Amino acid sequence: MRAVLSALSEELKRLKSTGVKTIAVSAESVAALRETLARRSDGNQTSEVRRQTSETRVLRPEVGGQKPEDGSQKRVAGGRSSEVGNTTAAAEAVRSPHSALRIPAGEAGPVLPPPPVVELPAGDKATRWAALGELVLKHPVCQAQVRPGKKVVLGVGSLDAQIMFVGEAPGAEEEIQGEPFVGPAGQLLTKMILGMGLKREEVYIGNIMNWRPQLSGQPGADQVGNRPPTAAEMAFCLPFLRAQIEIVQPAVLVALGKTALDGLLGPGRFKTLGEARGLWHEFAGKPVMVTYHPSYILREPTNRKKRLIWEDLLKVMDRVGLPVSEKQRGYFLDR
Ligand code: URA
Repeated sequence: MRAVLSALSEELKRLKSTGVKTIAVSAESVAALRETLARRSDGNQTSEVRRQTSETRVLRPEVGGQKPEDGSQKRVAGGRSSEVGNTTAAAEAVRSPHSALRIPAGEAGPVLPPPPVVELPAGDKATRWAALGELVLKHPVCQAQVRPGKKVVLGVGSLDAQIMFVGEAPGAEEEIQGEPFVGPAGQLLTKMILGMGLKREEVYIGNIMNWRPQLSGQPGADQVGNRPPTAAEMAFCLPFLRAQIEIVQPAVLVALGKTALDGLLGPGRFKTLGEARGLWHEFAGKPVMVTYHPSYILREPTNRKKRLIWEDLLKVMDRVGLPVSEKQRGYFLDR
């Protein structure tokens, strides 16, 4: 708990230094922190935590310098004012290490303001996508999550794609190039797309996250190593993914791996990927096929595993009316 609170405190200081003035904290989270304090017997620790708690409490539910109006929370996203819900980002960040997200102990993830509400301008797809890119890539919260010289990442591909792949988050290579799925898992995804008879440019490829969630280092130290995103991080980025879906209007989404499943259908809805994989679900009014992340194959490149993903992709091809040859139907059957 001490590590979590200390990470929380560090993150609050860091956010403050990037210009974030306030964040939302629910009464529930404050009560949970208080309860924790009450159970602690170490006097010094208690007062340190109490200091952090009251510091957190006085933060108002606003960011970007805009005051709440009419009792609702308002924030400025990319220069636009937008309404937000009651997301308790700080509470999520505190809870996340204990969630099913496999976040290493002590890795609380950053404290984030509530998710933005994205308002797309009128216009054609290219205009709306460009406006979204401007918003996401320059968003101060996204920018604050990447190390100097590294990039925030938006989806890529055809704005008329029938198929939108959704992965987890940028990795080392993706945050350098600013494009999703360009590292080893991306090369395999590109092969899978080619196997479907499509070019990479004919589909749309996005991620649940727009930045690379990293293991925290000492303040000021270089941070390396991926970690799974927290529920708060996924919630923060989800409006950006929704906006991409709204622009592209794909016929189907393909969720690659457990994080994509959790991000789209809600963390905790499925305990394991196996429960949801190979079946059709729904997100934002679009059918979602859930399958394994390509990195699953990279870890164990057997035909048996390749076939599992391939069978899911065959369902996608059938659903969108792509021709499937006998040869394609039989891929990876020789185990
Ligand atoms: N893995 C993902 O889930 N997304 C990427 O962009 C790269 C690797």
